[in-house]
Amino acid sequence: MLKYAGVAAASKGFSASAPGRRLYRRLGNVALERSRRAEGLPQRYLDRAERLLALCETYDVLAPGDRVLELGTGWVHWEATVLALHHDVSVTLFDVCDNRLLGAYRTYLAGYRAHLAAAPDGDGTRRALDRLDAALAADDFAGIYRVLGFDHVIEPSGHLDGLDAGAYALEVSADVLEHVPAGMLAEYLDEAHALLRPGGHAIHQIDLADHYHYFDPSMSPKHYYRYSDTTWRRWFENDVQYFNRVQRPEWRALFAGAGFGMVEDDDRSLPPEELTRLDAAPTAAPFDALSDEDRACLQMLTVHAA
Ligand SMILES: C[S@@+](CC[C@H](N)C(=O)[O-])C[C@H]1O[C@@H](n2cnc3c(N)ncnc32)[C@H](O)[C@@H]1O
Repeated sequence: MLKYAGVAAASKGFSASAPGRRLYRRLGNVALERSRRAEGLPQRYLDRAERLLALCETYDVLAPGDRVLELGTGWVHWEATVLALHHDVSVTLFDVCDNRLLGAYRTYLAGYRAHLAAAPDGDGTRRALDRLDAALAADDFAGIYRVLGFDHVIEPSGHLDGLDAGAYALEVSADVLEHVPAGMLAEYLDEAHALLRPGGHAIHQIDLADHYHYFDPSMSPKHYYRYSDTTWRRWFENDVQYFNRVQRPEWRALFAGAGFGMVEDDDRSLPPEELTRLDAAPTAAPFDALSDEDRACLQMLTVHAA
């Protein structure tokens, strides 16, 4: 608990001023660049790639020439990259700040190249390998974007209404929507809906875990259930490690309210031993009203249609 509380307190400290927030991001990105380069392409990113490609095939999401929007593209543009390698699409990379890490990105491109080179040969694989070689030969982000057909947009307000309405066949994000301020979500999803063309799709992976658990795995991945909104806001919530604690029933209502129709919701739950740990601790409002199933939901993997 000490580490959990320490990370929350430090995050609040960094959040208190603009220079503090900038310093946090700079230090965090230096550490992340180092660890991501050392670790190489993680299996979970390969799993994400495989799942995304399978969903696009199952629901016939993309056609040649289509436009894709990746929300919260972050450090390595992962979903955008996978789609651009395997489909003839152009992608808008959207984020609220510039978190790009060229070294980590190249490491992931090289890791994916090795993965594909070991896969059975096929037309699609050959094309992806050719594009990867061209991307890896580029000197900088601009060169890689030319190869992959990317356009990078940074909009600090987080609002999507400056993008082209009705233009996108697919919106995709991974571990992003939980970072959008709770009070802005209804408007954000309305704006996202307006960007899709009729029949377009939205594929989102939403992480419902307590993000402080990643710094202190001795705490439950749903430890935050213990804290009311007032306590959370006072002691834990901050700008540099913001996550919104929105749970599955609210997500479903938000997507429906914005006009999205649910196509698939393939969620992940807490493992049984974590449920036992959760049951042993008090749950604060508003989480005490959740059904057992919703309370156990750790990650949402959703497909919606406009
Ligand atoms: C945990 S990172 C995930 C990055 C990337 N998708 C990945 O999985 O490697 C969350 C990202 O969401 C971005 N973000 C936060 N608020 C956002 C918003 N309103 N719209 C789009 N992106 C946002 C952050 O800047 C950050 O890059």
